[in-house]
Amino acid sequence: MSNFWSMWISILTILVIVGCFVLLKICSKNTTPDIKEGESMGHSFDGIEELNNPLPKWWSYMFYITIVFGVIYLALYPGLGNFKGYLGWSSSNQSIGTEQGIKADSKAAIENASKEGRWVQYDQEVKAADDKFGPIFKKFAETPLEELAKDPEALKVGGRLFLQNCSQCHGSDARGSLGFPNLTDSDWLYGGSLAEIKTSIMNGRRGMMPPKGGLPVDDSEIPGLVAYLHKLGGTEHDAALAAQGQGSFMKGCFACHGMDAKGNKLMGAPNLTDNIWLYGSSDGQISESIKYGRSGVMPAWKDVLGEEKVHVIAAYVYSLSNK
Ligand code: HEC
Ligand code: HEC
Repeated sequence: MSNFWSMWISILTILVIVGCFVLLKICSKNTTPDIKEGESMGHSFDGIEELNNPLPKWWSYMFYITIVFGVIYLALYPGLGNFKGYLGWSSSNQSIGTEQGIKADSKAAIENASKEGRWVQYDQEVKAADDKFGPIFKKFAETPLEELAKDPEALKVGGRLFLQNCSQCHGSDARGSLGFPNLTDSDWLYGGSLAEIKTSIMNGRRGMMPPKGGLPVDDSEIPGLVAYLHKLGGTEHDAALAAQGQGSFMKGCFACHGMDAKGNKLMGAPNLTDNIWLYGSSDGQISESIKYGRSGVMPAWKDVLGEEKVHVIAAYVYSLSNK
């Protein structure tokens, strides 16, 4: 924070505290000398009359106590602009790290700070958690995925990490929803081996289906394509339309979805013959997929969770469809 804003905040804060004190002082005096204590102020409304009474003592004292508390708090803890407070408390070690030229997230910086009696709460909590869980994740990280996927303890940890990080998109039961793939079946956009699942989570994935596949396909051909896809999926369709649609499909849909339309996991192009639809199975939804294209984004977790945690989650995800 620049000095100007630091001063600005400090002065405003002090003015407000002093203001509260002055207001309290004024209000505890009788400012109407011609009306004695306990007498009517001369207004009444709805049968209620205002009397000239001072503020109750306990009420004023509570205000004085909050003012004293505020002053003590601002002296001990950061709150007045850039002033760090006499305790040197900080929720993170950022300030200490940069002051001493140490990397802000280094454990040494935290240890130094606690040696100096500085209280770096957040970092100490993180460090305590790392000390406790670090060895567990390290052990998991050294275990091959094949074994980890059978280790009940690892699966429990993986399940918890999944709930915290993945369930908002894939659902708490990992069954997904429109646009978010079900991770409990054996239908995979990018492959269902342990290594492929781990890669999906580490690096993220981005499905790229351009509108009409980027092909010279006319809007009028879309009903035919929908019928053809229904035919491939073994669902109800108009045979004549489907025959037309096959012609349109051969304009190039196969380049990504494959000649047999069974998909291509290198591009995440879904299998169009298994009657499992990421974006819905109704004629309207399929037409929309074709007409406007689709582009699902799976975020990368490498930098968010780190490889050790992804390793455990990958084992968990694999276990869901490989009981
Ligand atoms: C912001 C939403 C979102 C979050 C959070 C998310 N995902 Fe995904 N994930 C997706 C989408 C969307 C896809 C499909 C991408 C596509 O359409 O190409 C996907 C795809 C996947 C795939 C590939 C599925 C396949 O069929 O090949 C795996 C595995 C996966 N996610 C696991 C996870 C895990 C594990 C987490 C938590 C660490 C997670 N996802 C968090 C949205 C999300
Ligand atoms: C450039 C490669 C590419 C081409 C060409 C392409 N697609 Fe796709 N298609 C994809 C990808 C990738 C997805 C998955 C998108 C996602 O995960 O968000 C997809 C998704 C779809 C879906 C949705 C599937 C579902 O499960 O909901 C349909 C339907 C579809 N394509 C039909 C077609 C048709 C018909 C054509 C030809 C006109 C075509 N695609 C051409 C790559 C392609």
